[in-house]
Amino acid sequence: MATAQAWIPSILGYALMFHLYYTLPASNSSYKYLRTRRHQTFPIHATVLYRTEQARETRLKFLICAIASAWAKSWMFNREVKPALSEEPSDEDEDVKDETRHAESIDLSSLRKHNLVAKKLTKYYGKNLAVNQISFTVADDECFGLLGVNGAGKTSTFKMLMGDETISSGDAYVQGHSVKTHIRRVHEHIGYCPQFDAIFEELTGRETLQLFGLLRGLRRELITARALILADKLGFIEHLDKQVFQYSGGNKRKLSTAIALLGSTRLVFLDEPTTGVDPAAKRQVWRAVRRTTRAGRGVVLTSHSMEECEALCSRLTIMVNGRFHCLGTPQHLKNKFSEGFTLTIKMSVSESAPMSEQVDVVKDYVTSNFQEPKLMEEYQGLLTYYLPDSTMAWSQMFAIMERARRVCSIEDYSIAQTTLEQIFLQFTKYQRTDNI
Ligand SMILES: Nc1ncnc2c1ncn2[C@@H]1O[C@H](COP(=O)(O)OP(=O)(O)O)[C@@H](O)[C@H]1O
Ligand SMILES: [Mg+2]
Repeated sequence: MATAQAWIPSILGYALMFHLYYTLPASNSSYKYLRTRRHQTFPIHATVLYRTEQARETRLKFLICAIASAWAKSWMFNREVKPALSEEPSDEDEDVKDETRHAESIDLSSLRKHNLVAKKLTKYYGKNLAVNQISFTVADDECFGLLGVNGAGKTSTFKMLMGDETISSGDAYVQGHSVKTHIRRVHEHIGYCPQFDAIFEELTGRETLQLFGLLRGLRRELITARALILADKLGFIEHLDKQVFQYSGGNKRKLSTAIALLGSTRLVFLDEPTTGVDPAAKRQVWRAVRRTTRAGRGVVLTSHSMEECEALCSRLTIMVNGRFHCLGTPQHLKNKFSEGFTLTIKMSVSESAPMSEQVDVVKDYVTSNFQEPKLMEEYQGLLTYYLPDSTMAWSQMFAIMERARRVCSIEDYSIAQTTLEQIFLQFTKYQRTDNI
């Protein structure tokens, strides 16, 4: 009895320790890498703790608690609430449907030929559906963009693909290896830049790259050479021998990107690689990403910047509430969703008549030559029109405006298609914000 009483506090102590280890979110420290990878690193931690315990009885208590908490954890996962998934929405975009059909039609024997295939990938956090049955493929030398505002489900998608979060339903295959059943093989083929830098603050940039290179199984000389090239191309070579805690947020993102690109993996996941990076440095990161795809490696990139996706992605999708709402090349999306053109006219200053009269002449001209033009803005001789007729040919529009230049006081003008940014805003206005 007395022995049982003596066991209770220590068992409770260990149980609490395991519970915290599994459930607390990763803190912002150098320990973070281990914590974000806790499912992989747990056996190492447990072994170290076990070896430090001397008394046989304490070791026994420790083992009982480790086994019990691991069992409890897997039991908790298995009883995860998974509400029934809704049927495929009937209003789903045709391109998204085509991609879904294509991904789901790839049979087991052909999966090996594809870099990445996701089939009905789904993530529930309790009852919150974060990723809703997404299916897509990523080819070699393709940069596939997941574009969406906060809470759209981009990071959850990566976490499932990296085995950091369980997959609620569906599966994904990296060069034929299932994420659900062969996550170790999957890791060998992916370079990953997580959204929040998971790097050791005490190491220098060079040591960090060396460490991750060795973990990847690269030779030392190769790592040294690649680290230099990557630091140079990404623009942090002058900080290479500084400790990471001295790095700015932008330089940490560059280092994380370098870690992802370091191995010669055929697939690279970049979760918001340029968040916090200044505009000039952003371009350096973009060039590095372009070089990666040119070298025949597939990249999946998340971003909230349409400009970034337009610059880098061969195909992109806009993700809202865990679903894809459109998918295709940037130009395809522009053609499909652009709802007309923007016409900007700059008036020339002329002595012959007052400015207001000249502006009226231009307004009459535009109204009589375009279908239902809408004056969006008028400011100091600058007129911005929205032209809703998307069927009008470019040549016709330019011919009209060239004629206008001859008959009105116009210094300059420009006609532009609706931007991808406008398309993005149109889709993302439906993103839920209640659970972010
Ligand atoms: N660990 C978590 N536990 C519970 N809910 C989460 C967790 N991580 C993300 N979520 C929720 O899942 C949804 C998608 O989040 P996330 O994948 O981080 O989106 P994004 O990367 O596009 O900003 C959000 O509603 C978010 O609140
Ligand atoms: Mg995210």
